[in-house]
Amino acid sequence: MCGIIGYAGPREAQEVLLDGLRRLEYRGYDSAGVAIVGSDLKVFKDKGEISKLSTDMPRLAGHLGVGHTRWATCGRPSQQNAHPFLDCTGQMAVVHNGIIENHLALREKLIGEGHVFTSETDTEVLVHLMEKHYKGDLHAALKETLKDIKGTYAMVVVRADCDELVAARKENPLVVGLGVGENIVASDVTAMLNYTNKALYIMDGETVVLRPDKVTIYDHDGVPVQRDPVVVTWTVDDAKRGGFEHYMLKEIFEQPTAIHNSLLGSLDELEAGSLMIDHEPASVKLVACGTSYHASMVGKYIIEALAKIPTTVELASEYRYMPNTEESPLTVLLTQSGETADTLAAAREARRRGCPTLAVTNVVGSTIAREVDRVFYTKAGPEIGVAATKTYTTQLMAMYLLGIRLGQLCHTMGRDEVRELTSELRAMPRYIGKVLDRGPEVEAATEMLVSARDAFYLGRNINYPTMLEGALKLKEISYIHAEGYAAGELKHGPLALLDASTPVVAACIKDHTYAKMLANISEVAARDSPILAIGIEGDSDLAAVADTTVSVPAVNPILSPVPLTVMVQLISYYTARKRGCPIDKPRNLAKSVTVD
Ligand code: G6P
Repeated sequence: MCGIIGYAGPREAQEVLLDGLRRLEYRGYDSAGVAIVGSDLKVFKDKGEISKLSTDMPRLAGHLGVGHTRWATCGRPSQQNAHPFLDCTGQMAVVHNGIIENHLALREKLIGEGHVFTSETDTEVLVHLMEKHYKGDLHAALKETLKDIKGTYAMVVVRADCDELVAARKENPLVVGLGVGENIVASDVTAMLNYTNKALYIMDGETVVLRPDKVTIYDHDGVPVQRDPVVVTWTVDDAKRGGFEHYMLKEIFEQPTAIHNSLLGSLDELEAGSLMIDHEPASVKLVACGTSYHASMVGKYIIEALAKIPTTVELASEYRYMPNTEESPLTVLLTQSGETADTLAAAREARRRGCPTLAVTNVVGSTIAREVDRVFYTKAGPEIGVAATKTYTTQLMAMYLLGIRLGQLCHTMGRDEVRELTSELRAMPRYIGKVLDRGPEVEAATEMLVSARDAFYLGRNINYPTMLEGALKLKEISYIHAEGYAAGELKHGPLALLDASTPVVAACIKDHTYAKMLANISEVAARDSPILAIGIEGDSDLAAVADTTVSVPAVNPILSPVPLTVMVQLISYYTARKRGCPIDKPRNLAKSVTVD
């Protein structure tokens, strides 16, 4: 997956493209490039991040161009494999996000026809196909090119002697920003917020011709499509770092607001009995990847506790291989981006199986939102740091709301119980504020993790997935190998790995798992592992067995994953910071994974 952008308008294209690429960098950052039409078509591209590209790049004058930031899938990160790619005449340039599955056969054929390739990528066949099919009409050449290829794409093409860009989309995001006398096309609205908040979302199979004063969308059959723009509510400031050292820290601190916004309105709908679903399902299946998978795991505990409905959790990448054993479970797809290829494939498969589908996503207009029966939007605002933080805790809010809604439908929760839990949910931003206030204390506590090679994260019951998420956060941004474990499983293997050089982070709150967790922590202490325990304020028994304790406020145990998550986020953030890691852009990762 990668970020693409194209600009047509009166401004210097170089500025707009670089500004947009900076905002798309979360999608990939191992190489980048731009192609700009001035007196002729000029390309500048290189290995490395956008900041390097901007510094090294000469001024390229021109008002029409395309740009790309890459997360390598086919061909290692290098200058040669960076986009844009030029055709043999040097007249045409292409940027692409996706995978061309039949590129080897196409490459061989094109080489046989005399085309010269300069990279190892699948994308390069696109520009040679465009060259082959170009007979004076860029859009017609694009349509012919699309007939030849198999795979997925969001692509933009520019040509030296044309005053337009052409673009196409299949299974990778593409959105047009409508400005006044200027238009932008990009992978994501954040790339265009500086210039416009009017967005036209492009659908699968559609193509676009974009000029400074006009945008035309065509359907698969070449018929022009009329579509009203959507007004985007995210602002440029939402997507800025705002004085914080890293986006991740800013986004951790935005959680009280993100949670407040995600609950706002939804609690009224809950009260009115109109939130998310209308019927009581026989079973629920939660499907997701990465951090969203952990939110799904927490969701299972919530739904089973509140609504007593059997709930299963599947990794989206595995869902397609699972036999259909349940009678049309309500299939809930969690994906903050709404674009994760595996989760989209699972949504399509669920529909094929006749299951009712509900998506939980943070991005209005994202692909998943258009492919499911119902959508619940979390309102976390744009999340730029690659490690998910506020999108995760707002997904947890969605799980609480879904659990309560199902509890209402199944009559497992009375009015008073619903009222009590929702008022505690409303108080959640305050509780998170208390965790955030502990920043300096947490920073000091991370000392034991900073030089570790391996670490374990332990939790039980609803906080077992919380600690899986804690371990994932540490891995992602500090590069310390960390494993989350159900604390009861410790003695079935991992205990063999514990010694004085392997710290253990343990969640030990005062719920029904407390005594067992204390016992597990003692087992760890007996193996000399340094212990960082997360407990409830003033827990002296815990302080007596752990080397260091950090505390979270006491909340209803079912809600405890929220403050505990914020704590594990801070632990990984401060550890990674002390290790000098590139927190917002960890190596080899990208925020939105549009390949499966
Ligand atoms: C990538 C990101 C993770 C994210 C996962 C699923 O791997 O780096 O942070 O959890 O994709 O993303 P989604 O948008 O589907 O929640």
